[in-house]
Amino acid sequence: MAQVQGQILPTSQASNIVPEPVRDGIDLHINGEHYRHTGDPQMPLLWYLRDVLRLTGTKYAGEHGENGADLILLGDKPVSAITLPMSSLADKSVTTVEGLAANDGTLHPLQQAFIDEDAIGCGYCTPGWLISGVALLRRKPKPGDDDIDQLPNLCRCGCQTRVRHAIKRAAAGKAAQP
Ligand code: FES
Repeated sequence: MAQVQGQILPTSQASNIVPEPVRDGIDLHINGEHYRHTGDPQMPLLWYLRDVLRLTGTKYAGEHGENGADLILLGDKPVSAITLPMSSLADKSVTTVEGLAANDGTLHPLQQAFIDEDAIGCGYCTPGWLISGVALLRRKPKPGDDDIDQLPNLCRCGCQTRVRHAIKRAAAGKAAQP
């Protein structure tokens, strides 16, 4: 027999009671700022960004991040934010679309190129394109059409051709450098 909050429980029932683990927090960096998450360690990063930090640039992209609108940079790698539990981010560095511009507000060259090439329709997919485009340009400064076409992003407004032009414009250095 075991006693829990004044109740006497049979031993078989008492053995099912698992104490809540002590949570002392998960430290991570987002857009250069330090944060400590003390909530559910299984919370997907997407909801932490949108609902806790109110960084709403990163969008819901389906249950498994299918359309690429929820991409963030984990280091230099684009990753779907809904697939990342907070527990996987201890001491990691995350960049969201809000972190691409310089501190003085100067847009990243790819952001400027999207404007210059009118590559934004409704805008829902744009943050994901920017994240995967920046990662591509870091990996391959002069990407070809095939490289761009292999990006995982989808645009329901039909902006793919203009997105391709924008990425090439940024690669050619036609937008202001950060
Ligand atoms: S601009 Fe609307 S989904 Fe791409």
